Amino acid sequence: MSLWELRGDRQSLVFADLDGGMPQIIHWGAPIPPADLPVLADAMRPDITGGMLDAVAPLSICPAAERTFPGQPGMEVAAVDGTPLRPRFKLVDVTGVDRSDADVWLLRCEDRELGLDYMAELALQHASGVISMWSSLSSRQPVRLRWLSAPVLPGPQHADEMIDYAGSWIGEFQPQRTAWQPGIRLRENLTGRTGHEHFPALVIPGRATSNAQGEAWGAHYGWSGGHRMVAEELPDGRRQIQFGHASGSWHEPDTDFATAPLYLAYGAQGLNSMAAMFQTHLRDQIVPWPDPDRPRPVHYNCWEAVYFRHDLTELKDIATRAAALGAERFVLDDGWFGRRDDDTTSLGDWQIDPRKHPDGFGPLIDHIHSLGMRFGLWFEPEMVNLDSDLARAHPDWVLGPADQIEGRGQRVLDLARAEVRKHLFGQISAILSAYDVDYIKWDHNRVLPYPGAAQATGFYTLLDQLRVAFPDLEIESCASGGGRIDFGVLSRAHRVWLSDSNDALERLRMQHEAALFLPWEVTGSHVGPRVCHTSGRVLDIRLRAWVAAQRHMGFEMDPRELTQDEVEVLTRVTAWWKDSCTWRAGAAIARLDSADPAMTAEQQTARDGSRFVVFAGQAESSAQIAPRPLRLTGLDPKARYRVDLINRDDISGLSRGTPALKSGPITLSGQSLMQVGLSLPYTLPASIWVMEGQRL
Ligand code: DGJ
Repeated sequence: MSLWELRGDRQSLVFADLDGGMPQIIHWGAPIPPADLPVLADAMRPDITGGMLDAVAPLSICPAAERTFPGQPGMEVAAVDGTPLRPRFKLVDVTGVDRSDADVWLLRCEDRELGLDYMAELALQHASGVISMWSSLSSRQPVRLRWLSAPVLPGPQHADEMIDYAGSWIGEFQPQRTAWQPGIRLRENLTGRTGHEHFPALVIPGRATSNAQGEAWGAHYGWSGGHRMVAEELPDGRRQIQFGHASGSWHEPDTDFATAPLYLAYGAQGLNSMAAMFQTHLRDQIVPWPDPDRPRPVHYNCWEAVYFRHDLTELKDIATRAAALGAERFVLDDGWFGRRDDDTTSLGDWQIDPRKHPDGFGPLIDHIHSLGMRFGLWFEPEMVNLDSDLARAHPDWVLGPADQIEGRGQRVLDLARAEVRKHLFGQISAILSAYDVDYIKWDHNRVLPYPGAAQATGFYTLLDQLRVAFPDLEIESCASGGGRIDFGVLSRAHRVWLSDSNDALERLRMQHEAALFLPWEVTGSHVGPRVCHTSGRVLDIRLRAWVAAQRHMGFEMDPRELTQDEVEVLTRVTAWWKDSCTWRAGAAIARLDSADPAMTAEQQTARDGSRFVVFAGQAESSAQIAPRPLRLTGLDPKARYRVDLINRDDISGLSRGTPALKSGPITLSGQSLMQVGLSLPYTLPASIWVMEGQRL
């Protein structure tokens, strides 16, 4: 028997060759003493009793039905004529590669008779401790593939539940808890994009795990074309986890197939310890920042202010006001090209509309630059309206049948075709070369007519080509809000538009959920109009401003609607945000285990632990009258911290008591802050407390 390990400070993954076939992952979780490794596989061997076969079928990195495996196979492959192939892979070699960024094992298995090669890479990333794994299949002859899983994981058995994500337009990141029970939990996303409905991840909390305590295992599939997840409890009680590309049917015959990377994070100190690994890995290893040390600029996006109505005088006035509030980048959204006066026309015609911008973007950009702001521009390159010059010239470039159901009146271009990508590259690069555009908001507002990996691969290729041609360009991934958020697109983009909802209460919840994966630097959050366009709610500027300040801050309201009070609050919070960017760079977001379900709270702690900020959002009225103490997290129990309520001016007249924080800063040990917590002043529903702490 041979054993290999990926060993970090926080997690380890051990795999073994037990029978010369496909290796098996025999441990994924906390690092165990190295001396235990040689006995681990034998010690963990399941017993056999009545009603079982005479040996337990291996739960390998690609379990095969042919070995009487009693669950979903890790691969389904057939000859071109449809005859199922039943590979019996043998392990050929396991090679260790010392990369500067990661410890890597490369596995190769083959079935000589069928001419099939299976490869897998398992890598432990040094900086974040995250493990990434992918697998591939290559064949001498073209074959048809129905399913290929990234290396299959044994599901933790010290857990009763799993969490995966549903969601909708303006309702992204809705966690669903399901009990582990015999049978399959299958998520298959056939929309062809990551989707609001199917964030590609699985979190397995241990028994009684909270944000700050207990074990948590997390897996995220870094792919933008729709994923398939199988979380299965086998009849014998073992559990397996599979992730791969969704296909909905058989892939086209080919000789080479590969999965996207599956990212793994295990934490022993609650969901936060897992989240910190994902956040760090995404921010520091995946997002290709053109200038990593440059603080994120405050955005202004004009969408909810003017929609398709682009008038130069009006836009300049808005830009002037946005700059005065503190905005540093002006993003011109939908409506600038073709004859795009509403959403029925012109997608595909990426030429500036001379009716709206008669002298091109020059006058607007000059004005924006004179205010010290950068300029960003909206595109939706993968889409086309039938009412466009492009669709009239190239009807065959449109994906799907002529009588398909449209989405937002639009169709999808076939990005698998090189000539389509070439055309789009030409159109986009003409604008980027002619004007000083340092940012693209890249939208994707409809699902595909049918799923297919080639579209997502074509999208990646186009983005990669543009990034080579314009290396300083930053890109925001948007798809009707958060419909394309995953580590695959984020290896080519720098920000996600989490949701089309600028409702601060909805955002408070979504940001809290998404923080298990997304660092604050990549999560766009804007202060919307006073009357929220997607909920009709009217929320106070203090809540709207501070909720946007939790993440990559921006504004999206028409600044001409702001009262003097709103201007003052927004200017103050934006100034705080800009100052805090220096020490918050790389700060992890930890979710706080609020004793009051009406409160959604988080703590962002500087990398060196010297400072933190707590955002405690009172989303609704509490059931009890007096606020419950809020416990902080991740502090040094022995250190002392000075904690201050920085928005003390927002205390309502209904707060009549004397909690110490109400009148000034307090100094307490990390131990007290984490064990006893902080008593906050009474506050109204839909409001937020912001506290800063400094280690003394
Ligand atoms: C959907 C996006 O999510 C919005 O922010 C906006 O860019 C519109 N598309 C523009 O059509």
